[in-house]
Amino acid sequence: MALLLIIPLSLILLLLAYNLFQKFRYKLPPGPKPWPVLGNIYDIKPVRCRCFHEWAQIYGPILSFRLGSKLNVVVSNAELAKQVLKEHDQTLADRHRSRSSARFSKNGKDLIWADYGPHYVKVRKACTLELFTQKRLEALRPIREDEVTAMIESLFNDCTKPENKGKPLKVRRYIGTVSFNNITRLTFGKRFINDKGELDPLGKEFKGILSSGFKSNKTSFLAEHLPWLRWLLVPLDTEKGDAAMHNARLDRFTREIMEEHAKVKSKDVGGIKQHFVDALLGLKDEYDLSEDTVIGLLWDMVIAGMDTVSISVEWAMAELIKNPRVQKKAQEELDRVIGQERIMIEEDFSNLPYLQALAKESLRLHPPTPLMLPHKAKAHVKIGGYDVPKGSIVYVNVWGLGRDPNAWRDPNEFRPERFFEEDVDMKGHDHRLLPFGAGRRICPGTQLGINLVTSMLGHLLHHFDWNPPNDEEIEMKEAPGIVTYMSTPLQAILAPRLPADQLYKRVPVDM
Ligand code: HEM
Repeated sequence: MALLLIIPLSLILLLLAYNLFQKFRYKLPPGPKPWPVLGNIYDIKPVRCRCFHEWAQIYGPILSFRLGSKLNVVVSNAELAKQVLKEHDQTLADRHRSRSSARFSKNGKDLIWADYGPHYVKVRKACTLELFTQKRLEALRPIREDEVTAMIESLFNDCTKPENKGKPLKVRRYIGTVSFNNITRLTFGKRFINDKGELDPLGKEFKGILSSGFKSNKTSFLAEHLPWLRWLLVPLDTEKGDAAMHNARLDRFTREIMEEHAKVKSKDVGGIKQHFVDALLGLKDEYDLSEDTVIGLLWDMVIAGMDTVSISVEWAMAELIKNPRVQKKAQEELDRVIGQERIMIEEDFSNLPYLQALAKESLRLHPPTPLMLPHKAKAHVKIGGYDVPKGSIVYVNVWGLGRDPNAWRDPNEFRPERFFEEDVDMKGHDHRLLPFGAGRRICPGTQLGINLVTSMLGHLLHHFDWNPPNDEEIEMKEAPGIVTYMSTPLQAILAPRLPADQLYKRVPVDM
């Protein structure tokens, strides 16, 4: 019995001694006082970007806290973001993998969860030089236009139904479908949803895999950060078993699609396919990519590209409904440039500066990945004069950067005009505005993401007037998570504004 007590007590003492040693050895960034063993697990609020923003008002633009014994560092201004993502980019480009992300990525065999090293450099090169080229983006444009017009048709049908007159629609359903179809078509060359909005059997399996991954990802917060409690909270066998089952299901599903594409390719029917799965099958040998890496990469695109786009559009529409002046100004621009006899296409973007500015303004206030993805220090570095020891998890609070009063005039105001007063880049060059991150790990889908968001917003504004249900206040709060959905899904009353019903028809393409 005594032995049973001695072991955990000595472990706790060791941990305390280690923390004390670190405290005196290093000059760590200030932060909330950690509890012994638990760290700040009970101080942290669920919507982390807001919590860190509040802490930054108390402790300053660089702060630290502990989850269990793990040191986490958050930076919240442009100067420090530059130190993290430019000056010390390479040292801070590793990824912190939670236990579940380590299992699902087969310990970083993909891109998102890989540490920065030869594997990462090789896979990233394949993405940059082959997957996200201007040529491929252009070749896949008809898919984007098909899906955006399908969304418009479906919104039109629903809002003009007599029984729906004056009733609000849940916007997320429609924009979520565009993101879903876009990503599945772009990645796997499959549209899993038919014209009636129903999922086919393969689509059901795809959604099943997504939600089982999500469920298994919800390992207890305590179990994640307190390794010594883990065996009590989540039986190891159950966790391992769930992950193995999930991975086997995902591999089976993806292999079937890959085989199907390989067969079509070998028969050489139809022109060269541009979907990511075809591209990666063609590149497997040239870049020496294992099957695990190809599968991991395909699912990375799904995970990173699906929610981010629809979240961005939902927040932007909420801002436009709250700010009728901006909505009207954007519609005037669309009418002036495009008129009311045709629909917008991506080639129109360059003539629609206000539309581009409002997409940027929305990403400033509502970056869908508000803390980017967690980086990890490969070696000890100094940031802002403080020590960041090897192994620390480092976050850039992109959400906080966009609301920093030292960087932005009236930061909480939604005012796209600010980008005409000063041109601010959002592709990683200006560290005040980093919705896509910056440096080595910047989002490889940046241009695709911008095109999708701008195209969806342009169509939604050109085709409809948007109003809140019964003049209700829209709640602008974030739901907790790595990506921040609106906590209350946006509802809106729509009225068509173009004269011909023909302009509300889907423009389908078969690719
Ligand atoms: C509005 C849309 C999007 C936003 C705001 C966004 C933002 C981000 C951010 C902040 C990161 C993390 C950067 C870091 O950790 O330093 C990231 C990573 C990533 N994004 Fe995006 N993203 C968007 C759309 C997309 C799309 C459409 C795709 C692909 C189809 C994509 C693929 C990826 C991948 C693969 C990574 C991991 C890169 C790495 O770890 O090296 N993203 N994205």
